[in-house]
Amino acid sequence: MADGLSKKRILSGIQPSGEGIFTLGNYIGAVRNWSRMQEEFDCAYFIADLHSITVRQDPKMLKQQTLSAFALLLACGIDPEKNLVFVQSHVHEHAELGWIMSCYSQFGELSRMTQFKDKSSKHADNVNAGLFTYPALMAADILLYQADLVPVGADQKQHLEFTRDVATRFNNLYGEVFKLPEPYIPPMGAKIMSLQEPDKKMSKSDPNPKSKVFILDEENVILKKFKSAVTDSETEVVYREGKDGINNLMTIYASITGGTYDEIAQEFAGKGYGDFKVCVGQCVADELKPVREEYARLMQDKKYVEELMKKGAENAGYVASRTLNKVKKKVGLYL
Ligand code: TYM
Repeated sequence: MADGLSKKRILSGIQPSGEGIFTLGNYIGAVRNWSRMQEEFDCAYFIADLHSITVRQDPKMLKQQTLSAFALLLACGIDPEKNLVFVQSHVHEHAELGWIMSCYSQFGELSRMTQFKDKSSKHADNVNAGLFTYPALMAADILLYQADLVPVGADQKQHLEFTRDVATRFNNLYGEVFKLPEPYIPPMGAKIMSLQEPDKKMSKSDPNPKSKVFILDEENVILKKFKSAVTDSETEVVYREGKDGINNLMTIYASITGGTYDEIAQEFAGKGYGDFKVCVGQCVADELKPVREEYARLMQDKKYVEELMKKGAENAGYVASRTLNKVKKKVGLYL
């Protein structure tokens, strides 16, 4: 890590599981901001594979997707020389502190987590203990690195609040062990919606392939998905309540071009939705092209990517072990 004394520390993670690795939602809501933060902050980013196994995975696929997701983070511009970039399960401190944090998490607060409620209704045949204590592991991920800021999409806000609650509870018992992290939720693009049901979050697990764009989708696939995006029966490109589909497309366009909703409305004044959809699709395809190319280049040299994974885990383990040892002493574990 770079100079930890003067720079604030950032930490965030992403699951490798699911078809297509990362969606446009993951990219705009999280990963793109991560690479932008690396100059100003001391950053740690990881592939949350332990979180992925709270839902049943195909072992071969999970392994392959972990390597792909790691390479994709690098392809998105995250520099392993400037940041800690690693795979969660390679740093055993996460699982250890996760257990300790689960002993300071209450049944009632875990039961209130909306993601737990959602996932347990989607996977009713496998409502396992890991799915339930997931937020305790996420708290451990963050607290191990004494993170100041956690850049995430809006859906992770409740988990961040939980992390602060557990950390406060622990600090009240044992002194100032953990720094209290703040969420960083981007002002634009924190919740990219489905292209087919724009009142629902764009999600990897959505069974409708037209609902989501993947970072690795080819240009023609991206253009097609945007062309078939659901809008409304009006014709005016303007951001307004009740126009969920157009609002979502305007948010995607604004997030990538950096323009405001008013500027977009002016740009497309007098043009129809058809033209607008083509432009949004094209700007997404142009933005993702270099990422796709860099990913393909990295995946030609898996040994190199694995080497970076190994180095990342060693460096992360060094930082994480300091916090874990402090915690173990505080709770009375015999070191
Ligand atoms: P995950 O893998 O579901 O998503 C990774 C990041 O992408 C954001 N995101 C979105 N942002 C905008 N629009 C969307 N449609 C969209 N979909 C996903 C998520 O908010 C997230 O920031 N529990 C986490 C992983 C995790 C983690 C952590 C994050 C594990 N430990 C510690 C931060 C700190 C998760 O499942 O994210």
